[in-house]
Amino acid sequence: MAKEITLLNPYNQQPLEVANDKLIDAKGKEFEKVAGAYRLVQDDNYTENFGFQWNKFTKTQIDRFSEQSSQSKTRFFAVTEWDKKDLSGENVLEVGSGAGRFSQVVLDETKANLYSVDYSNAVEANFKNNGHHQDRLQLFQASIYELPFAPASFDRVFCFGVLQHTPDVKKSVQSLAQMVKPGGELLVDFYPIRGWWTKVHAKYIFRPWTKRMSHEKLLCRIEKNANWMIRLSQFFNKIGIGKLTNRFIPICDIKNTLPPDLTKEQLKEWVILDTFDMFSPEYDQPQRVETVRQWFEEFGIKVDFAGTINFEGNNLVTAVKGIKKG
Ligand SMILES: C[S@@+](CC[C@H](N)C(=O)[O-])C[C@H]1O[C@@H](n2cnc3c(N)ncnc32)[C@H](O)[C@@H]1O
Repeated sequence: MAKEITLLNPYNQQPLEVANDKLIDAKGKEFEKVAGAYRLVQDDNYTENFGFQWNKFTKTQIDRFSEQSSQSKTRFFAVTEWDKKDLSGENVLEVGSGAGRFSQVVLDETKANLYSVDYSNAVEANFKNNGHHQDRLQLFQASIYELPFAPASFDRVFCFGVLQHTPDVKKSVQSLAQMVKPGGELLVDFYPIRGWWTKVHAKYIFRPWTKRMSHEKLLCRIEKNANWMIRLSQFFNKIGIGKLTNRFIPICDIKNTLPPDLTKEQLKEWVILDTFDMFSPEYDQPQRVETVRQWFEEFGIKVDFAGTINFEGNNLVTAVKGIKKG
């Protein structure tokens, strides 16, 4: 059984004690627990869009609420290749958990203790989805750059779909690496740079404007236009030219990112969510696999995988994985 994680105030490195649903350090600095999560930061930061998105689409991507899709579980185990039994009693850190699609997998499928962090108030959505696992889930609204844990604490650290949305991706990898204990594992997945054409895409063309729109206005535009854009991209896929043309239609990639068996209504909901997710973030910085691999090594993680993982037939995820040197 792994020992409990030491909590630290990331702003002064003082140990934090839990008292009356608060975290308190020796100097009396307090962080409240609100709606299931300890709050170390304010909501009004660059991830507000994600808070809006995940609190609006709280259940959409959670396997437990969908008979048609177990995409989160399939992707999680395709990327991690973890044996569920090995995680019993281990301390696992998840950074950038959103509505908790992968938190749910860890908590439902394993007996690990999960420390889950997000910079936005999406922690509230995560608590709604996973709060019934209170004995093994601890939630924190905090930044990847200022994590409230003693370094080298965790058996496993994972960070899925987050790095490209942080302002300094190298520093993000460094922060994650610091949390892994010797012999422990670090896994990240992220948007890759595949070539010069990666940024020749509706997302990168329109984002400078869309990320400045109010969240309500952007969502409303997407909802209004979702039907014809879905039909058009499905038509192009059907006649075999989707790979060439669909990158210029301002919706998410239906064929290569969404679960295959969604109902029509579910498909529309996923498209609206993923399209909002595509156009609203402050930062969207895809990375070269080789660069992330080198950062891992620089920060003391011996890489055992760096590349692309295929799951559900069409879906591709780019990941780097490794073990912290002793
Ligand atoms: C695209 S979402 C992915 C959420 C979840 N991992 C998933 O795959 O559904 C990216 C998440 O990273 C979080 N995030 C971005 N910057 C962060 C930071 N500095 N520290 C912690 N979380 C951050 C956002 O708030 C958002 O919930």
